[in-house]
Amino acid sequence: MIAGVSKAVFSTLATSGVLKRLASRYGMRRPQSFARRFVAGETLAEAMAAAESLERQGLTVTIDHLGESLTASETALAATREYIDTIRVAAAAGISRNLSVKLTQIGLDVDRATATDHLRRILEAAVESDFFVRIDMEGSAYTAHTLDIFENLWGIGYRNVGVVIQSCLRRSADDVRRLNELGARVRLVKGAYREPKDVAFQVKEEVDARFVELMRVLVSQGVYPALATHDPAMIAATQQHATSQGIDKSRFEFQMLFGIRRDLQASLAAEGHPVRVYLPFGREWFPYFMRRLGERPANVGFVLKSLLREEAQP
Ligand code: FDA
Repeated sequence: MIAGVSKAVFSTLATSGVLKRLASRYGMRRPQSFARRFVAGETLAEAMAAAESLERQGLTVTIDHLGESLTASETALAATREYIDTIRVAAAAGISRNLSVKLTQIGLDVDRATATDHLRRILEAAVESDFFVRIDMEGSAYTAHTLDIFENLWGIGYRNVGVVIQSCLRRSADDVRRLNELGARVRLVKGAYREPKDVAFQVKEEVDARFVELMRVLVSQGVYPALATHDPAMIAATQQHATSQGIDKSRFEFQMLFGIRRDLQASLAAEGHPVRVYLPFGREWFPYFMRRLGERPANVGFVLKSLLREEAQP
């Protein structure tokens, strides 16, 4: 319940222009500024440096050029071009060939045709460079559109693309079944958005129980699923299920967010599990950052400490 309340508070704060201006001024200013805990930097060069460092530690990455909710087709097209540049630069740098994209960043709020066309351009560039593209899942108002666009592109033959399913949503068991039948790659998460009761479970225990149920179906029947969580209980349940079913570690991967539970990322990789780090970069980091605070209000403490430091050294 508390998790639901803090998600609500932080999603409201995420729309505050004043807060965004203040955060943008201080959040990335120095190497130790608070937003850098969760965001690799504002430039592609900073993201590449962070990716290289993670890969030296035996991890792989999925790169997210931050941005969402773009309502003009020109800005959505510009974001699409930036993704295509990211593919070329990452391929040239030899970084893991994996991107994460939000459809509202490339035109879903303009219309479905725009988002589909832009995603297709990204997938074409991705095919050329042997990249996999994961479509992130946004709030439940977008779930059906996102899955329809995915299935449409899958239907015309793209196979270098996968989606995300949120265990908090009541519809997710049906979606997982359909995606498994297609042979699509799924990333399973708990869900980062504040959702209404009729579409989503509200209590953490229920969301966790659904995560375990969906994880079992995906690990047993899915195609290289990604279990994206920092929750030791979800990770232990996954390991236990795989062991009991004789499923090798190489048939699924764990994913975690940049800057969160680095200890767990390292220990799972050391045990021989494939571990991918979601690596966000870009100037539009504020809504992403606010979702991370909403997941763990204790993070606010470190933001305040960092802000005091910033004030002390102008
Ligand atoms: P839970 O919230 O129960 O946290 C378990 C433990 O993890 C906490 O006790 C704490 O130790 C640690 N932790 C979790 N969040 C933290 C934070 N912000 N700061 C510090 N510690 C934290 N969501 C979505 O709706 N659509 C998407 O496409 C994606 N994509 C995605 C990719 C990847 C790679 C990950 C890891 C997550 C996502 N998510 C997402 C976010 C996801 O839905 C969820 O909100 C977060 O992962 C937090 O949930 P946990 O499973 O970690 O469990």
